[in-house]
Amino acid sequence: MKPQIEQIESWARYAGKMAIEMRKEDLKVEYKNQADLVTRADKAIEAYLLAQLEENFPSHTALAEETGMHKKDSAHKWYIDPIDGTLNYAHGLPEYSISIAYAYEGELQVGVVYCPEMDELFSAVKGQGAWLNGEPIRVSRIDKLTDALLITGFRHALLDTPRTNIDNFIHFSRKAQTVRRLGSAALDLAYVAAGRAEGFWEIALNPWDVAAGILLVREAGGIVEGLFGEADLLTGSVDILSANPAIFPQMRKVLEEVRKLKASNIQTL
Ligand code: IPD
Ligand code: CA
Ligand code: CA
Repeated sequence: MKPQIEQIESWARYAGKMAIEMRKEDLKVEYKNQADLVTRADKAIEAYLLAQLEENFPSHTALAEETGMHKKDSAHKWYIDPIDGTLNYAHGLPEYSISIAYAYEGELQVGVVYCPEMDELFSAVKGQGAWLNGEPIRVSRIDKLTDALLITGFRHALLDTPRTNIDNFIHFSRKAQTVRRLGSAALDLAYVAAGRAEGFWEIALNPWDVAAGILLVREAGGIVEGLFGEADLLTGSVDILSANPAIFPQMRKVLEEVRKLKASNIQTL
């Protein structure tokens, strides 16, 4: 049986209710490291979603942030981030989401990103389109980088390393209209899909952060690739670039310029 979008949407909505309810009590925050948290809600929502998969699709593989890989060797694979933007969630900021994606033989088929605090449910089905609360969405038509609102994020552990994203941030801040850092990669991608942002890039994400968002952007007419063209965005550490078709090549050019400056040890800031 093929997963139906309505079913995944209803799991995401239920998970969203769990997130809102659980914030009213002690979240039992634990630290994976200084900027990487996990709460009681992350664990409970992940357990709920995995239980739905076990009940409905017992032979499918799932990759979930808090518990890793479940059941290897299936052509059917799920990517689950129970709360994307846990740090925002723990502080009471509304910018967090539940992200669920389903892929068949490595091809994303269905993606759902739900922001419970704003009751915004973004969904996409391969070949059929992308929607926000049931209404079709498209990437924006803005075509000049100087008019573009971009979004990014920073992995804390990379800040003082050669892979830091700070140099890119500075260059894009000069060349675009503005750059935002919102704190949920899944929602960042959903906003590109919905035409609220023209582009998004980030370094060292995980497949569960981006799987649903990738399908959203592609189904909404946007482009998603690795930062420098890498094709596999569903394995290991993911460096990602996503934008509407006009802004995408302009962003790639800036990223390449910064990469060259770094390689030649020229001061980039
Ligand atoms: C994080 C968010 C954030 C990104 C981090 C991710 P989490 O996911 O997507 O936007 O900048 O790199 O780890 O830990 O809140 O699920
Ligand atoms: Ca995440
Ligand atoms: Ca998470």
